[in-house]
Amino acid sequence: MKEQLEQIRLQALAAMDGANDAAELDALRVKFLGKKGELTAMLKQMGKLSPEERPIMGQVANSVRADLEAKLEERKSALDAAAMDAKLKAEKLDVTIPGNPVKLGYKHPMNKALDEAVEIFINMGFTILEGPEIELADYNFTRLNTEENHPARDHSDTFYITEDDSVLLRTQTSPMQIRAMDEMKPPIRVLAPGRVFRKDEVDATHSPMFHQIEGLVVDEGITMADLKGTLELLVKKLYGEDSVIRLRPHHFPFTEPSCEVDIQCFKCHGEGCSTCKGEGWIELLGAGMVHPKVLEGCGIDPDKYSGFAFGIGLERMAMRRFQISDLRLIFENDIRFLSQF
Ligand code: PHE
Repeated sequence: MKEQLEQIRLQALAAMDGANDAAELDALRVKFLGKKGELTAMLKQMGKLSPEERPIMGQVANSVRADLEAKLEERKSALDAAAMDAKLKAEKLDVTIPGNPVKLGYKHPMNKALDEAVEIFINMGFTILEGPEIELADYNFTRLNTEENHPARDHSDTFYITEDDSVLLRTQTSPMQIRAMDEMKPPIRVLAPGRVFRKDEVDATHSPMFHQIEGLVVDEGITMADLKGTLELLVKKLYGEDSVIRLRPHHFPFTEPSCEVDIQCFKCHGEGCSTCKGEGWIELLGAGMVHPKVLEGCGIDPDKYSGFAFGIGLERMAMRRFQISDLRLIFENDIRFLSQF
């Protein structure tokens, strides 16, 4: 029996030394020390021994168990350490390797120009509004004092959505004037940038889809001087302190009086050059004093309140701001173009 025990000791110690991982080691623990293990089987036979032999065998058996348990411990820590080592090696991170540069996109010149304008108007106390691109003809035309047979309503100019012409793609951001005045009481100071649509062929200065920034101010005692001052401040901030604007009489159904606002050519300062097509001035926007009929239609008393409105062409503004010569560049989204801004 003693030989058998010594046999187990040698076998088990050798096997444990050879175990390659925690699972193998655990299998060996079960094989030798488990309930049905080899050492346990030997101990069960101790009953058959004589009373003299029993303590001696007991001692040997205990020393074998102690040896195996010690070996198990030792191998387990060694294997754990090796596993940790391997893991650390595998997960090693060289923080000194240069990273992959993240390629950032560019802000579109239109958004840049819009952000600049929005910032200027926010500083003047304007609120930014957004409204639907699919609009009621009622808001886009009728309530803006545009008569039934006005040419702007023509099917050759406007994208209608419904057979009865009551719903359309807005041709201007001016319906936002109506939406603002329906919702708010004076004093009103709002800016409504957005997309507008007209049946135009694409060329260097036209697109069936473009952007406008609508502005509306309604309060007591608002005059054309407020309109001029506001727009002067805008162009000075956008194009420099020496910018000059001029107001030219014009007609819009929803403003009276109406004007178009030109900026003196930044290149030739009014002399006339290729940028301004010899004019010396570049058209910037349409504007005017809100028509009393429009105010009245929105429940605002025109005897007490007055207001001004303007509509800036955003593409035109961005083209001027960044000296872009062809409108199509703005919509083609060629990275070689966009990455310049
Ligand atoms: N909506 C006009 C246009 O598209 C511009 C405009 C806006 C004119 C506000 C006067 C007042 O041409």
